[in-house]
Amino acid sequence: MNPIAVFKQTWLEAKELKDASASYCTLATISSSHQASVRTLVLREVNDDSFSLFVNETSPKWQDLTNSKKIEILVFWPSLMQQYRIRGNVSELSRSVMEAHWRKKPYGAKIIDHFYAQKQPQSSVIGSRELLLQGIDELKQKYPSGEEIPYPNNARGISLQATYIEHWKNSPADRIHKRHEYRLTEGNWKEFILVP
Ligand SMILES: Cc1cc2nc3c(=O)[nH]c(=O)nc-3n(C[C@H](O)[C@H](O)[C@H](O)COP(=O)(O)O)c2cc1C
Repeated sequence: MNPIAVFKQTWLEAKELKDASASYCTLATISSSHQASVRTLVLREVNDDSFSLFVNETSPKWQDLTNSKKIEILVFWPSLMQQYRIRGNVSELSRSVMEAHWRKKPYGAKIIDHFYAQKQPQSSVIGSRELLLQGIDELKQKYPSGEEIPYPNNARGISLQATYIEHWKNSPADRIHKRHEYRLTEGNWKEFILVP
């Protein structure tokens, strides 16, 4: 069984159920000082073998990613009471893929990427909200809505090519929940049953 095909089908079901978590995932990274960090990100795309996320190069998570590629993505869909944990090989999305996404990105999100590039890095401390809004306003004047906004080099994307997937499925009747582990071995997915 291909667990990614099952993931995609289940993801579709969660979207149809209007599960607010269906758009997101949790990304876990490790810093150079071995500090674990988790945060919510938009789950952008799932292909036949990989999961795509967008990450700003100025952010602490990007620093973590340059330190260690041993990341994990977690997805939990409350509407279905199912969880996925995904590990694998990380690579960077190509510039052409990122530029194609950039063209579809909402205006406000583009302005924020330029803020990170030209004003202050993502997750850095800023003196006040007024200062933040002032910086945003300056960028809105520089790049008016409706005009073409240049792609900033700090908008990066990663692809996690899955080699390990763990699926947890609620079994409310007996509370003996179903857990399956899938490992990609020589191009084939091997399935294991885990003690819940
Ligand atoms: C619902 C939700 C969606 C989010 N989506 C993104 C996202 O797509 N990209 C992003 O950089 N941060 C997103 N964030 C903010 C991140 O969780 C995080 O606070 C930010 O990226 C800074 O992370 P870092 O300091 O670990 O680099 C989202 C937060 C929430 C609650």
